[in-house]
Amino acid sequence: MTKRIQQWFAMLVTAFMLTVSVSAFASENAANTDNERLGESVVKSEMAGFAGADYWREVKDGQSGYTTSKSPEHGVLISVPGQTWYILKEKWMSPLGALAIFGSLAMVALAYVVVGPLKLSKPKTGRKIKRWSRFDRALHWSMAFTFLTLAFSGLTLVYGKHFIKPVVPTEVWGWIIYAAKQYHNYIGPIFGILLLAVLVKWWRKSLFNMVDIKWFMKMGGMVGKHKGTHPSAGFSNGGEKAIFWLLIFFGIFITISGFILDFPIFGQTRRHMELSNLLHMFSALILICGFIFHIYIGLFGMEAALDGMITGEVDETWAKEHHDLWYNEVKDLPENQPGYDAAQEAEKKGSTSQNNA
Ligand code: HEM
Repeated sequence: MTKRIQQWFAMLVTAFMLTVSVSAFASENAANTDNERLGESVVKSEMAGFAGADYWREVKDGQSGYTTSKSPEHGVLISVPGQTWYILKEKWMSPLGALAIFGSLAMVALAYVVVGPLKLSKPKTGRKIKRWSRFDRALHWSMAFTFLTLAFSGLTLVYGKHFIKPVVPTEVWGWIIYAAKQYHNYIGPIFGILLLAVLVKWWRKSLFNMVDIKWFMKMGGMVGKHKGTHPSAGFSNGGEKAIFWLLIFFGIFITISGFILDFPIFGQTRRHMELSNLLHMFSALILICGFIFHIYIGLFGMEAALDGMITGEVDETWAKEHHDLWYNEVKDLPENQPGYDAAQEAEKKGSTSQNNA
């Protein structure tokens, strides 16, 4: 009897389970079919809208849609204020920047032809005055190399499509723009580090004083009725101090905006990126123009100026004529006496301290 009941019970359970699973299967199929139908209709309506002018009008007007992304403004395919950024960058800053760069190049060319290089008024004496340490020179040339290569890669990113793209095969253009972008992204932060080092090392000697005001009033003794007058100056003259603070001021803007553009992982919106892009470009253009004049003076505009940044020493005549106050301060230092041997001096100092110990 018990066995029969067990058999009936087993049959009932099996029947129940069969019924449940069959109905579940059936309802799933039905749901699947419903879902498929729903999906099809959604796709159809999307397709219809996708191709339609209304759909694109909404997208172009900045209508927010749906994506699985979590980044700010993730649902907006086309950002309306972004058009303002595009116009400011492409229609204003880009052509005006090119004009400013070519204008600066034309001005230094004109200065070379009309005013000519600033020559020493007396012959060199041959006595050397120590001006830049090995560390100073390494810092200067690292900064110069980093800045100039970043300037060239940055200008390629902005103007390459007008000047390079039309004259090279598409594949070569692809490589050029890819290399420029990668170089700019990875080397950019090094500029920020060098800028900090330059600020720490040279800020003190770059503070303005009354001597610099007089230097500016005489236009550095470079042009007009003041040409060749050699106004007084300390280690740096007013012009050098101005270029130093220009570098620091706009360099900070470039570094901060570059950081915002380089690392878009701190919740920056498109507005932050657009503003950073404009600020980055504007500051870089100012510095590029400013340093066209600096490079002109260093390379062609002033006789014997480059010696100091290459060897670390300048001729006595140059020091007296361009930085008289500094020359008077340092001319009697042992390191500036003829026949001074730094290695010998260091050895002497070492043996004296050993004897004392
Ligand atoms: C071919 C490129 C360059 C040349 C030939 C050059 C040349 C020189 C020379 C000769 C000096 C020393 C002037 C003196 O002894 O009084 C100098 C100083 C300096 N240079 Fe350059 N330079 C170049 C590029 C750059 C660049 C790209 C930067 C920065 C972006 C730069 C930043 C500086 C600074 C901050 C000083 C110190 C100015 C001061 O406070 O006295 N230079 N440069």
